Amino acid sequence: MTCGLPYVNGPCHIAHLRTYVPADIFVRFLRKMGQEVVFVCGSDTHGTPITVKAEEEGVTPQEIIAKYHQHFVELFPRLGISFNNYGNTDDPLNHSRTIQIIEALMRNGYVYAKILTLPYCPICKRFLPDRYQRGTCPYCGAPARGDECDQGCGRYLEPGELMDPRCSVCGTKPEQRETRHYFLRLTAFEDFLRDYLNHMEGTDIARNYAIQWVEKGLKDWNITRNMDWGVKFPGEEGLVLYVWVDAPIGYISSTEEWAERTGGDWEYYWKGPGYLIHFIGGDIVYHHCLFWPAMLKGSGYDVPYAVVASGMVRVEGKIFSKSRGYVIWVEEDYLDKGLDPDALRYYIASYTGHTRDLDFSWTTYGEKVNKELVGTLGNFLYRALLFAYRNYKAIPEGRVEPEVRTEVEKAIQTIRDALDEYAFKKITDAVVTLAAYGNRYLQAREPWKTRKTDPEKAQEAIHNCLWLTKAIAVLIEPVMPEKAEVVWSQLGEHREETPLSEALKPLLAGTPLDKPDPIFEQVSDETLSSLIEMVSHRIAMAKG
Ligand code: MF3
Ligand code: ZN
Repeated sequence: MTCGLPYVNGPCHIAHLRTYVPADIFVRFLRKMGQEVVFVCGSDTHGTPITVKAEEEGVTPQEIIAKYHQHFVELFPRLGISFNNYGNTDDPLNHSRTIQIIEALMRNGYVYAKILTLPYCPICKRFLPDRYQRGTCPYCGAPARGDECDQGCGRYLEPGELMDPRCSVCGTKPEQRETRHYFLRLTAFEDFLRDYLNHMEGTDIARNYAIQWVEKGLKDWNITRNMDWGVKFPGEEGLVLYVWVDAPIGYISSTEEWAERTGGDWEYYWKGPGYLIHFIGGDIVYHHCLFWPAMLKGSGYDVPYAVVASGMVRVEGKIFSKSRGYVIWVEEDYLDKGLDPDALRYYIASYTGHTRDLDFSWTTYGEKVNKELVGTLGNFLYRALLFAYRNYKAIPEGRVEPEVRTEVEKAIQTIRDALDEYAFKKITDAVVTLAAYGNRYLQAREPWKTRKTDPEKAQEAIHNCLWLTKAIAVLIEPVMPEKAEVVWSQLGEHREETPLSEALKPLLAGTPLDKPDPIFEQVSDETLSSLIEMVSHRIAMAKG
C-alpha cells in the first residue's frame, strides 16, 4: 500500500490528509482482517516544485527538503498515520532504482532521443521546465504552468505545449532554443494499457478518466528536463529525469528501505504474488494509471492491482488553494491549537464519499464533533461505562441478547462491504449507527429503574451495553486509534490493533472498572469563531 508522495516544499495541509487518512484507515482494517500489509510513503524531493521554492527562499534544494521532510516525519505519528516506511526520493536507493528502471526501459527499446525546440529565458539564462513557465493551456484556455493546467482542465502538459509562455521568475518572453531530450514510447503501451485499465481495481474516477485518455489517443512522454537537480539522465550532462519518473519509483525504494531494515522481501510486492495498491489524489490519475503502469511493465515489474483516487478538497466551500488562502495547515491550524487528531481523521472519513469533493468548514467540523462524536458516540460510551462503574465497579455478568449481537454483525458486514468499495463514510456511519442503537437500547432497558426492582435485569442490560462498547472500540480503531485505546482502558484492558473478530467475542465479567471520563471534548462556540476568523483573515490577506 502506498500514498502519493508529498512534495516537500511546504508543510502538510488538509488536502494531503484526503489521501493519507483514508489510506491509513484502509491499512488498519486490512490488518484487522489478518492481511499482511506493508504501508509505504516518502518525500517527493525533486522537480521544479522544490527548486522554485528553494530559489524563492534563497536556499539550496537540500535545505528545503531537509526542513519539510523532517516536518512530515514528525507530523504523521501525531495523526496516527502508521507507515511502515517513510523514505525520500533523493535517497541513494531511489537514485539507483531509477537508473536501473531507465536502463531496462532503454534496453527494451522504449526510450528514444529527439531534438526539441523549447523556451529559453535569455535573462535567467536557462531553459524553462515545468513551473518555470506560466502561460495559457492549449486545451481549455485557462492560465496554466509548464507541465500542468493547474487552474483549468487539469491536464498534464508536455514541454513546448503551453501557449504564450513567460518566464515565471522574471516575466520575460522566452526565446526558442534546440535541446536534446528523451522520450518514453507510451504509444507502444496502448493495447496493454487498454486491457490493463479494464481490469484495474480501485475507484471509478481513476479507471474512467484513464480509459478516456487512452481512447483520445496517447502521446509519447518526454521524461527529461534541462536541470541539475534530480536524478541525472545516464550519459547526458545537464539533463535530469522528469520528477514524475523518479517519484513513483520512490514507492519501490521505500519498500526496499523497509526490507533492508526489517529483513522483509520487497520483491514479493513488486515482482511477486503481493498486491500493489496506490492511494492518490484525483489530480494525479494520469501519472498513476498511464505513465506508471507503462514504466513498470516496460521494465519487468508488476503493475498495480488498484489505484484508489479521491475527490478534491474544498475549504469553506471554495476550491483548495494555498495562494488564495483556502488552506488548513495541519500542524499550525489544527494540532498546535490542541484540537483532537482523531476528530480530524473522523471528519475526513465521514464527510462524504471518497470520490466526491470534501469540503472542510469549521462550522461543519463543530457540528460533527458536537453532535456525532460527543452527542452520539461519546454519549453512549460514557453513559454505559459510568453506570457500570458506579453500580458494579466491574463488568457485570450477563448474556449477550440476540438483537444486540445482530446489530454488531450488521455493522461488521456493512464495514466489510464498504471496504470493498473504498467507501469510508459507510464505515463511520455504521459505527455511529451502532452507538445510536446503544443509546436507544439503554433508554429502553432503563437500568437506573430496574436496578432496584429487578437487579439481575439491570446487570444484563449493562453487560450488553459494555459488550457493545467493546465492539465499538474494535470498530473505531482504524478511524480513531487513540480513542479506541482509551475505550479499551476504560473497559479495564490494554489492547491495540485487535482483530475484527474480537468485536463478537464475549466480555470477561468481573474485570474491574475505573471511573471513566468522556472520550470526546465539545468544541466551544468561542473556539469555532476564532478558527473561522483565522481562515477569513488568511483569505483577506492572500494576494489573489
Ligand atoms: N508529489 C506529487 C504531488 O504532490 C505526487 C507524487 S506521487 C508519486 O502531486 F507517485 F509520484 F510518488
Ligand atoms: Zn486546460
